[in-house]
Amino acid sequence: MAAQLLKSDINFVKPESTIPEVIDHKIRDHVQQKSDDAFYICDLGDVTRKYKVWKRVFPRIKPFYAVKCNPDPVLLNLLVQLGCGFDCASKAEIQTMLALGVTADQIIYAHPCKQVSSICYSQKVGVDLMTFDNEAELRKIQRCFPTASLVIRLLPQPTEKVRWTMCDKFGCKADDVPKLLSLAQELELKVVGVSFHVGTGCYDPSHFVRQWKMQERCLMLACLTVLT
Ligand SMILES: Cc1ncc(COP(=O)(O)O)c(C=O)c1O
Repeated sequence: MAAQLLKSDINFVKPESTIPEVIDHKIRDHVQQKSDDAFYICDLGDVTRKYKVWKRVFPRIKPFYAVKCNPDPVLLNLLVQLGCGFDCASKAEIQTMLALGVTADQIIYAHPCKQVSSICYSQKVGVDLMTFDNEAELRKIQRCFPTASLVIRLLPQPTEKVRWTMCDKFGCKADDVPKLLSLAQELELKVVGVSFHVGTGCYDPSHFVRQWKMQERCLMLACLTVLT
């Protein structure tokens, strides 16, 4: 692990150093080198600690890090070494992760509206877990990757307690779930799960619970759709 990470710009600091001290030091270095390039500092130890907390608290839930949040190679490499899964929203992100040595089964193609060429690419490299939220997507997938494992994405319920709402972005309405699942069945596609994004920076844990309950209702609907 260290060998791969050390190739990048990593500095070890004393455990007693504070974050303001580390930032001051970096600024002084920058000034000395007469550089005015932007930089940011990331505490990889903190990422590792949080990953370990997740694994302890949710031993049966595998995290899939959304590459778009911060695709810095040092951070991605660290997450690869920790054994994380990856949520890729584009062909380019899938390529990045495969190049870092991640296997296709550790990736979900989590964009519910994909280009046909990207779905074909996904099929070629074996990334078979992907999301959808509309009929056209199901038809595209059926055309070029009919054996894919699909995750239906739901629109979250509205809440004020997020920094950025996802209520008008991706996801189908709960009412549309039966229609979409029936179509998936008719097209002989395999739906294996449900997904949602509560909104960026959600600071109300009860909203996750509400959303989870909605997901459960959708799973019930899914069972009924398959049975009827
Ligand atoms: C599936 C998925 N995962 C993660 C993200 C990133 O979300 P955030 O900005 O809340 O980290 C998005 C944003 O669109 C998303 O659609």
